[in-house]
Amino acid sequence: MKPPIPIELRFELNGEPTTVRCAAQAMLHEVLRLDLSLTGTKEGCGEGECGACTVIMDGEAVNSCLVMAAQAEGRKITTIEGLGLGHQDGLHPVQAAFIETGGVQCGFCIPGMVLQAADTIRRIPDADRATIRREVAGNLCRCTGYTKILDAVELAALRMRAAPAAEWT
Ligand code: FES
Ligand code: FES
Repeated sequence: MKPPIPIELRFELNGEPTTVRCAAQAMLHEVLRLDLSLTGTKEGCGEGECGACTVIMDGEAVNSCLVMAAQAEGRKITTIEGLGLGHQDGLHPVQAAFIETGGVQCGFCIPGMVLQAADTIRRIPDADRATIRREVAGNLCRCTGYTKILDAVELAALRMRAAPAAEWT
């Protein structure tokens, strides 16, 4: 087996210019977790099926297990560790709503779920429960039965509609 070819990547990670050396064939979630120690990004399936690895890249939620790390060059990446930066108590409104509604059990799916929900509310500010359910359908949870997750996202959407966008984007 050939040794991995190292590459150097530069991108913006959670608002900070970041440089990292990694294997050319590495996937983005591997670099975030293993090279940058941002373990809030989970690996569930590694095949684009569960959403546990969701991050926001240039403003859109993506499954980072399907993104080559090399594709992150020059991009803006937000992980769960960076979502709440600049918000009250360091929590994005979606994170605060998950805590308040008890939308978290084991927590494994939650970083990806929260990032997907934040992206949904940004794109569809007036999303109703059915729309939210559809938008987070690619994020699987084995614990909660989804009811409290949907409660949390609905609550966050309600609050974000009521507040000036500058307070939560
Ligand atoms: S780990 Fe990426 S979608 Fe499951
Ligand atoms: S809270 Fe356990 S998988 Fe969702």
